[in-house]
Amino acid sequence: MKVVTVVGARPQFIKAAVVSRMIRKQHEEILVHTGQHYDVDMSDVFFEELEIPKPDYNLGINGGSHAEMTAKMLVEIEKILLEEKPDILLVYGDTNSTLAAALAAAKIHVPICHVEAGARTYCATNPEEINRICTDHISSLLLTCTKKSQDNLAKEGLEHKGRFVGDPMYEAFCFYKDKAEHMSHYLKTLEGKEIEVPARYYYLTCHREENTIKDGALEEILGAMEQLSYPAIYPVHPRNKKRAEALLERCHYKNIYLTNPVGYLTSIYLVMHAEKIVTDSGGLQREAFFAGKQCVTILDFEVWPETMVENRNQLSRPDSKEIVEKLACEQNLDYDYKPFGNGMAAAAIVKELEKYLG
Ligand code: UD1
Ligand code: UDP
Repeated sequence: MKVVTVVGARPQFIKAAVVSRMIRKQHEEILVHTGQHYDVDMSDVFFEELEIPKPDYNLGINGGSHAEMTAKMLVEIEKILLEEKPDILLVYGDTNSTLAAALAAAKIHVPICHVEAGARTYCATNPEEINRICTDHISSLLLTCTKKSQDNLAKEGLEHKGRFVGDPMYEAFCFYKDKAEHMSHYLKTLEGKEIEVPARYYYLTCHREENTIKDGALEEILGAMEQLSYPAIYPVHPRNKKRAEALLERCHYKNIYLTNPVGYLTSIYLVMHAEKIVTDSGGLQREAFFAGKQCVTILDFEVWPETMVENRNQLSRPDSKEIVEKLACEQNLDYDYKPFGNGMAAAAIVKELEKYLG
């Protein structure tokens, strides 16, 4: 079996880390990095720490509007698919890299396997929702992380292509969490200072378009973190860097450490030891759930409704008062509920690929 895998953004490197290792035990994989994420701390650090094979192609395409980025990727990925002639294209999640690769493949009749299929926010203006829906509808094999995602596929008449395999993010979390405990616990702030991770802290991430195009959203979120009993650690995604730096200069936060993006091992260390988590990330809200940490998600819509049980993960508007109130809610974490599979998604994914290709 010859698989072309296309990745481009931070969460896709993490998923590919566990899946590529499994594919390469018995099959050939060509890895394409679109270049969507390109800073050393948004890309290289993941390849090094997680020992992901070096990409066979790096397209260096990033920035610009959604259309510009997607269109440039579409043209370049088509050339690679024509050259490599894979049996199947493998894509993850919901980024512009995912959609561009899927579109390129569909038009030249290369079958597509979409991992993390069937996730839905039912919010038509969310750019990731558009990418997910389009990718699912042109894919041949839809591999889902949860049973709920299977149900979502059924609502769109896609259930015959859907197979539940579990979540590769959960597998990555299980696989790397012991290694993460042995990381150095120092972080670099945006001002260039080195700080030690405090004994008690909140972990914040924020990068979604919904929270970065609206003026004031980040200020409200940081305003909430500033009021808490323990400091917050916020590794700033490049999308928010200028705004975060401007706010830091104006508001002189005393209770928030704004740092550069951290590697995956540091990130899951921060998840495992945090008091609570505030995020708008699809990956981080699942990791909070895996680690049994209470989470507040700053979005208008549920991305992973499976985590929204017993106050374990609550939605909040980007509003200081609401975030602080939600963080203060009691929750019962003491129960056994595992909607994301058994932590062995990669083997299940390879098995489904083999079955599909006969
Ligand atoms: C993308 C995905 C989102 C995912 C996120 C993971 C889309 C539509 N969105 O959003 O689903 O949650 O990745 O983090 O694909 N930038 C840098 N350096 C980098 C990466 C980005 O400066 O290494 C800048 C880009 O030039 C751009 C901005 O950050 O101006 C946003 O990057 P982009 O890749 O468009 O979207 P993300 O917000 O990262
Ligand atoms: N993450 C990381 N460094 C950071 C922030 C997040 O490694 O500075 C990890 C996080 O633990 C999770 C993944 O990146 O595994 C989530 O990616 P992101 O939030 O960028 O995208 P999303 O999941 O929202 O698509």
